[in-house]
Amino acid sequence: MSKIVPFGKPFIDNSELNSIKKVLNSGKYVHGKESENFEKIFKKFTRSKNATSVSSCTAGMHLFYLALGISKGDEVLVPAQTHVATSHAVEIVGAKPIFIDCELETGNIDINKIEKKITSRTKAIVVVHFLGVPVKMEKILKIAKKNKLKVLEDCALALGAKIGDKHVGTFGDAGVFSFYPVKHITTAEGGMIISNNKKLDNIIRSKKAFGVDKNYNQRNSPGKYDVKELGINYRMSEIHASMGVVQMKKLKVILKRRKYNFDYLSKNLKKIKQIQILKNSEKKIHSSNYCLSFILNKKLASKRSKLIKLLNGAGVGTSIYYPKPVPLMQYYKNKYNYKKNLFKNAFIISENSIAIPTGPHVKKNDLKFIVNEIFKSIGTLN
Ligand SMILES: Cc1ncc(COP(=O)(O)O)c(C=O)c1O
Repeated sequence: MSKIVPFGKPFIDNSELNSIKKVLNSGKYVHGKESENFEKIFKKFTRSKNATSVSSCTAGMHLFYLALGISKGDEVLVPAQTHVATSHAVEIVGAKPIFIDCELETGNIDINKIEKKITSRTKAIVVVHFLGVPVKMEKILKIAKKNKLKVLEDCALALGAKIGDKHVGTFGDAGVFSFYPVKHITTAEGGMIISNNKKLDNIIRSKKAFGVDKNYNQRNSPGKYDVKELGINYRMSEIHASMGVVQMKKLKVILKRRKYNFDYLSKNLKKIKQIQILKNSEKKIHSSNYCLSFILNKKLASKRSKLIKLLNGAGVGTSIYYPKPVPLMQYYKNKYNYKKNLFKNAFIISENSIAIPTGPHVKKNDLKFIVNEIFKSIGTLN
């Protein structure tokens, strides 16, 4: 194989190495300036009022429900087409996720199906900006206001995505981001919760660190503190945060490259009649171009595994977003006995789509290579 373009590759160099080394040498691995600095930079970038670093996006979503006191007997509306983390964060507090199918054009939650699922037990709705394409938040907020629901935005794949000039994550009560290695920026593992609600942010901040009344730097005398509420340890270490600080400096370039790559791939792959590319833009909707996903037509769909093997064999990395609608994952299927015809569009995307890379590691000559290999591989299947 002459060339390999992986699906995802962290965009790191000596600057991250140096920042990690500096933290290691300092001996201060938690409660330091790096996480404070990372939060400040993130807040400024997203133009949110508060930002709290956490150990993962999942941890952030868990904290959101803990902070609101959502628990057994409550229901949260969850898109069927997402990472299981979006739903697990609801399950883990004892509440029940009520799944909603997606639109076939974007993979985003089908807003028209939301209101039918609202009951007296519904407390919140979580939306996922699927593959970085913003959900139409104006409509979500209208439904939420009418029914007194809290809104969480799962922005795991959407750092830099905007509606008009406003960043995703700033529309709902809170937005949570992921810094897992293939995401827009990485801290190895990590996440950030943004919110314009200071009171909510304070509770989240306390709960992410055992519920102590004074954080490490607020204590007059070392080791003296009290615990005012139940909490957990979901802090981000200084080592991870120092990576985040450096990565944020690269974000503009990363987003520009992702957009260029998406547009190139989309323009060239559009010529293939047997595939439908998931839509990533329309008026005011600015995607973060996490990846490009296309749905194979009926005839090709039965050959998806073969096509993936051909592409991977030729050096083109692929992924699937996501392998099954969450309600059809074994855990949820066994617990709630969901039938697949309830989530028709999510099922089509899970079963028939292939995602290809748009990250900054994909260079201009790689783009041509990816397009050629896709044409060639589909050609051999016909
Ligand atoms: C939509 C979505 N939400 C949440 C997560 C979980 O993120 P983390 O691994 O940072 O907990 C992922 C992970 O890929 C995701 O795709």
